[in-house]
Amino acid sequence: MTLWRRILRSTGIFALFLNLYFGLSVDTQAEYADVVINRQAEKNGMRPVVFPHWFHRIRFRCKVCHAELGFKMRAGSNPITMTDIIEGKFCGACHNNDIAWSPENCDLCHSGKPGLPTGVFGGHETSGPGRW
Ligand code: HEC
Ligand code: HEC
Ligand code: HEC
Repeated sequence: MTLWRRILRSTGIFALFLNLYFGLSVDTQAEYADVVINRQAEKNGMRPVVFPHWFHRIRFRCKVCHAELGFKMRAGSNPITMTDIIEGKFCGACHNNDIAWSPENCDLCHSGKPGLPTGVFGGHETSGPGRW
């Protein structure tokens, strides 16, 4: 991360800018909600993953995830494994104990109520890990 971006983030100006800029140009249905990802998780004995989209998108540009990290823009369209994450792909590009906390914090991501299907849920604020 550049120093410039770090300063902007810490002052909140960056977030405000993204908010104003993209708030006007992007479909609100998709941008505000949390994404539940449960393609593989529950089948493998883990609770569904809750990805708080809003929380992330005010901190990073869309293209960081949707171009550079290769997340396709459709809920449930990305085959993500823990091996990928631990190797630094997808969520693991940041959740690496450097930019954000590490993959060892299983419950912070696998925080969905059992049975929640993959899809977009909730309002414009994330209720946070484990608070579904
Ligand atoms: C930190 C990474 C990250 C950032 C930043 C991010 N997204 Fe996403 N986005 C995701 C992930 C992860 C998903 C869910 C993908 C999945 O379920 O496989 C997603 C899903 C979506 C979807 C699909 C929702 C649906 O209805 O299926 C849209 C549209 C989208 N993002 C748009 C955006 C836009 C526009 C921005 C910038 C304002 C943005 N995203 C920023 C990671 C990000
Ligand atoms: C571009 C970087 C980036 C990517 C990619 C990313 N995250 Fe994050 N995520 C962060 C940062 C930074 C935080 C804030 C960490 C902190 O507060 O210490 C965060 C926080 C979170 C939180 C806690 C939110 C809260 O309310 O406190 C969850 C849950 C989370 N991420 C899940 C995911 C999942 C699941 C993925 C992949 C689908 C993902 N993240 C991908 C950067 C990223
Ligand atoms: C940064 C977020 C994040 C953290 C932390 C995390 N996971 Fe995951 N995990 C995911 C995502 C996203 C998927 C894909 C979910 C899906 O497709 O259903 C996944 C999928 C899985 C799967 C099924 C796919 C596979 O690779 O077998 C298992 C099992 C799993 N996680 C276990 C764990 C365990 C155990 C931990 C803690 C040691 C953990 N996860 C921590 C995000 C995370």
